[in-house]
Amino acid sequence: MNNNTDSLSSEAISGLQGTGIVAGDKSISHRSLILSSIAEGTTRISGMLKSSDVQSTLNAICALGVRISILEDDIVEVIGVGMHGLQEPLKPLDLGNAGTGVRLLMGLVAGQKINATFIGDESLSSRPMRRITEPLSQMGIQVSDNGDGLLPVNITGRSSPLPISYISPVASAQIKSAILIAGLNSRGVTSIIEPAKSRDHTERMLKHFGVEVDTQTNLDGSYRASVRGGVTLQANDIIVPRDPSSAAFLIVAGLITENSQLLLPMIGMSPERIGLITTLREMGGRIKIRNEREVGGEQVADILVSSSQLKGIVIPADRAPSMIDEYPILCIAAAMATGSTLMANIGELRHKEADRIAIMTKGLRLAGVNVDETETTMRVYGTKTVTGNSCIKGGFNIYSEHDHRVAMSFLTLGFVSTDRIIVDGVSTIDTSFPGFVELMNKHGARISPVNNHWR
Ligand code: S3P
Repeated sequence: MNNNTDSLSSEAISGLQGTGIVAGDKSISHRSLILSSIAEGTTRISGMLKSSDVQSTLNAICALGVRISILEDDIVEVIGVGMHGLQEPLKPLDLGNAGTGVRLLMGLVAGQKINATFIGDESLSSRPMRRITEPLSQMGIQVSDNGDGLLPVNITGRSSPLPISYISPVASAQIKSAILIAGLNSRGVTSIIEPAKSRDHTERMLKHFGVEVDTQTNLDGSYRASVRGGVTLQANDIIVPRDPSSAAFLIVAGLITENSQLLLPMIGMSPERIGLITTLREMGGRIKIRNEREVGGEQVADILVSSSQLKGIVIPADRAPSMIDEYPILCIAAAMATGSTLMANIGELRHKEADRIAIMTKGLRLAGVNVDETETTMRVYGTKTVTGNSCIKGGFNIYSEHDHRVAMSFLTLGFVSTDRIIVDGVSTIDTSFPGFVELMNKHGARISPVNNHWR
């Protein structure tokens, strides 16, 4: 594959088969680097995602004085510096496109007596940072930006942040994790209450490193996690499961194309990450979960997916946190269903790598799919008729605004379109799913680089 191209074309295929080895989990990879950096001892991380986002976090941690060795392809060793051992970086920490990286590292720096400036690429520089800097300020951390709540952000940490009890307006694992990580060095108990439970990889990994984390889910669905400061993390090897958010593209591709059967081994099955699987099954998707087991404190399973006739549904609003990254690819499944699919409580999608509601609506309409959008909802009208025919019009270009999940979603739509779909702005696929194109093509897809003069 020509890696220099920023445009790819995707064409109709006759099905996908085989055993798909999906990339390592992005959320867990970031956390494994960040938490092992302040542990006592050496942590070996196996199955780590080798993506540009994770590389940005790795570079930032090295700039904070931590020694990391790449042992083999996806195995790294981090020599932890202990709870107060990070050094002030000589240059601004450039987190590229990595929202999780920048936000969790702000929490890390907040608990150290050092100063650091955080910068990122154009997309990251337009994403809201006050959701992190506001609670960190309440912890007595000195924070400055240009008055706009955006990067660059400068943080002067302290060796003992003030413990707080923070009520977050949104269910966000990034907010929760930044506060818990900053709280590890505070004198007292730091708590975060979120309106619904977001992914809990930080809580699980802290426990894996020997830290007590007190958690509670309330009757109204809200969730609280607390840590007592002054703890020590003990290095402990980590095996990273394969990313359910990356598997999502193969799952939907397998469902919407005819004659498909894909086996996806060792996919992360944390309940806060598998809302898409629940939803697709309710839509009639044939998805089998096999060999459920636990690996390093995380649940995993093998997923078998087969071609299916999907029907539209109303997705419960409270399911949104458990499938927040999956709505772009769910839109593609919904476009290939009978009836309409209503997605509520998805306003957060407007603050991701791009405004995902706006771009998915635009691209689906170009493909001849009817969509209604409001500030916080989408309704996608499926094109499948009861006789099993559908009509996804190809023959158009869609610019993903360099949003990796949007790019992969429209490439997946190309598998069932009448004419090829060209997606522009695909280079960021590498932020979460390096090898996506090669993997899809290996199993039957027809994705190829586009030379500009042929368009
Ligand atoms: C992530 C949390 C989610 C998700 C992101 C990864 C994490 O963001 O969208 O891709 O690893 O903590 P929010 O915390 O903003 O919901």
